[in-house]
Amino acid sequence: MSPTPVLLDADPGIDDALAIAYLVAEHHTGLIDLTGLVCTAGNVGLDDTVRNALAWLDLAGAHPLPVAAGSAGPIEVPHVVTPETHGPRGAGYADLPTTTRSTDPRDGARLWVDAARAHPGELVAIVTGPTSTLARALELEPALPGLVRRLVVMGGSFLGHPGNTTPVSEWNVDVDPEAADRVCLAWEASRAADPSIPPVLWCGLNLTERAVWTPGRSERLLAASDAPITRHLTDALRFYFEFHQSMGDGYLAQVHDPFVAWLALRPDSVVSSPANLRIECSGGHTRGMAVADVRGHRGRVDNASVAVDVEVPGGVDAILDQVSAAIASLSPRA
Ligand code: BDR
Ligand code: CA
Repeated sequence: MSPTPVLLDADPGIDDALAIAYLVAEHHTGLIDLTGLVCTAGNVGLDDTVRNALAWLDLAGAHPLPVAAGSAGPIEVPHVVTPETHGPRGAGYADLPTTTRSTDPRDGARLWVDAARAHPGELVAIVTGPTSTLARALELEPALPGLVRRLVVMGGSFLGHPGNTTPVSEWNVDVDPEAADRVCLAWEASRAADPSIPPVLWCGLNLTERAVWTPGRSERLLAASDAPITRHLTDALRFYFEFHQSMGDGYLAQVHDPFVAWLALRPDSVVSSPANLRIECSGGHTRGMAVADVRGHRGRVDNASVAVDVEVPGGVDAILDQVSAAIASLSPRA
């Protein structure tokens, strides 16, 4: 079977870095063909997301692939960064090496469209940051929903689970609610015209907060491989542990993005509910809320599958074991 083409749109970001390393490892196994990486401003500014993506690809020993700078901020509102979450430059305590890679001259939105057109009906697209670049790609190519095999987004918080940015909003959606809502509307329109187009798989905090990386897991990763990639990732993770501790979660880290990347490659492992999803773009207290109509109140086409659980022997921990093993395989012990 030929490798599945995959495009990642990320805002690295510490858990995004784990997702990048994980996907490079899966490229090496031949499961996927990592065809491109789009960087979007989110956790840190665009320059830093690009810098980080290039450096993490170097450390992972990635093949040459296009890395394109996407949106420098949300569509309609100013961009607010959160250095307290991922560190001043988005890599926690990791001192990233200077990269020898260069960026692709294309805008990230153009790379989205080119990648989808190059692999019609085959591309698995994964978003682990704000959907600002994807929203612009949908302007360039409104038929994008019908060109990809599936779109998987780390975003939102469902089933009454609280937000991590406001009481009801998750960070990636909260950064650019207008963009996320455009994604919802685009898939709704496309599925209304062609119901064979798959809905977007939204993996929100109700599920992803279960992906907990502990200091013990970092120790085990270092014991399996003390390569530069694992040393830098565990340095970055120490900052993420401290952030979560400061939020009252304990000295650990929720690693949403590699977990979602793993699920994106194995959608049959996800238990999900069909829904018509819209993002609240006004609302004095609810801006950024992902409002999933799972009961059909709106009478509109389902544009989303809302992830609620995983069906995997060993559950979420077993998935993180696989992510960690994949990362350890990137570079054998020196
Ligand atoms: C999301 O926000 C970011 O800080 C993480 O990288 C993840 O993509 C979780 O809300
Ligand atoms: Ca992210």
